[in-house]
Amino acid sequence: MGPDGSKNFDVYLRTAVSVDPQGWAQFGHVKMPDYRWGIFLNPKEEGRKVNFGEHIGEAAWQEVPGEHRANLRRIIVTQGDTEPASVEQQRHLGLTAPSLYDLRNLFQVNVEEGRHLWAMVYLLHRYFGRDGREEADALLERRSGDKDHPRILGAFNEKTPDWLSFFMFTYFTDRDGKFQLCALAESGFDPLARTSKFMLTEEAHHMFVGESGVSRVIQRTVDAMNQLKTDDVAKLRAAGVIDLPTLQRYLNFHFSVTIDLFGADESSNAAIFYNTGLKGRYEETKRGDDHRLQGASYKVLQALDGKLTEKDVPMLNALNEVLRDDYIKDSESGVQRWNRVIEKAGIPFRLNTPHKAFNRRIGALSNVRVAPDGRVISEAEWNASVNDWLPSVEDRAYVASLMGRCVEPGKFAGWIAPPVMGINKQPVNFEYVRFA
Ligand SMILES: [Fe+2]
Ligand SMILES: [Fe+2]
Repeated sequence: MGPDGSKNFDVYLRTAVSVDPQGWAQFGHVKMPDYRWGIFLNPKEEGRKVNFGEHIGEAAWQEVPGEHRANLRRIIVTQGDTEPASVEQQRHLGLTAPSLYDLRNLFQVNVEEGRHLWAMVYLLHRYFGRDGREEADALLERRSGDKDHPRILGAFNEKTPDWLSFFMFTYFTDRDGKFQLCALAESGFDPLARTSKFMLTEEAHHMFVGESGVSRVIQRTVDAMNQLKTDDVAKLRAAGVIDLPTLQRYLNFHFSVTIDLFGADESSNAAIFYNTGLKGRYEETKRGDDHRLQGASYKVLQALDGKLTEKDVPMLNALNEVLRDDYIKDSESGVQRWNRVIEKAGIPFRLNTPHKAFNRRIGALSNVRVAPDGRVISEAEWNASVNDWLPSVEDRAYVASLMGRCVEPGKFAGWIAPPVMGINKQPVNFEYVRFA
């Protein structure tokens, strides 16, 4: 289920070889079927404790705690299920790569997501015995978008139809991966914590691919806007670049679909996972509270009489919302960096993340229609405006029409600017992929 038609390519890939922060990876041309998935756990911290929940202060678990076994297995399976899903969603993108540099980055993300699956499968096999092996087999049976055996979470069954979607996905949805892994890196189950910490070193590159990819699309667009002295969408499309309103609609789509991944705003499972020490908060050990949260409250949104209002709920039940809010803060900073590219070009347009109640499918906000600015609206108003807010069939067809194959070293498709620098200090026109 890996990349289509790429078995014989020599790809300049990063391979994890150790957990030493100074030299954890090596680079070289590798055929993807020969790429090796190692098992890497960050070094054990002597005397590490469970740092939150009702077991706080006990020694971290080196084996699966019997009473929490089913929940722990479910957490690992859910995380593991997302890893190969994105590879399945992206497997045809190599056929329309905008450059060798981008093709290499796609393949890099793919092989590392494969390794992340392997990392979770290792935990299931090593620590769970027979039921773990059965869950690991089921991970291989499910497929993204499959009618009968879909992936567990909605966003991982959506298509990644084009490279703009790929960049938005790696920016927004791989960042969900970062936040889930950060929460698991706090786990009282030490092997899961150590595995997740190492996965985070690889995850950073995936988000870089997304942030720099979108940034390069913007760069190309604003250059064309200045050259042609226009913001007319039809003229810009005739010139073969992706207009900023279309970029905004793609952003709205990927942002809203991704924040659903954090789950319902009120969740008794989230409370159980925290209480039992299995899944912490983002940067749990850097927080100054009691790490038990009994009696604490948190504000979540609800739609009441046609308006969004806040209500206080027990924080333990709102931990999905806490993680979602941390995620939103983190993803907004990159959007501001994209805006600086537009600002530098002297163009009065700004990208924004939509309101968190916009286009939700999960939780209390899935029952109402909300505009990107946070207004609760009628179904009729939604239908009248949805093509201004989410990619329309025409937008997707236009973006698809740009997708061609551009694989001469140093050449880039017309809708995206070259990167500022190459991979691992190689030049931008390096032969990142050699075709057999
Ligand atoms: Fe991953
Ligand atoms: Fe990733």
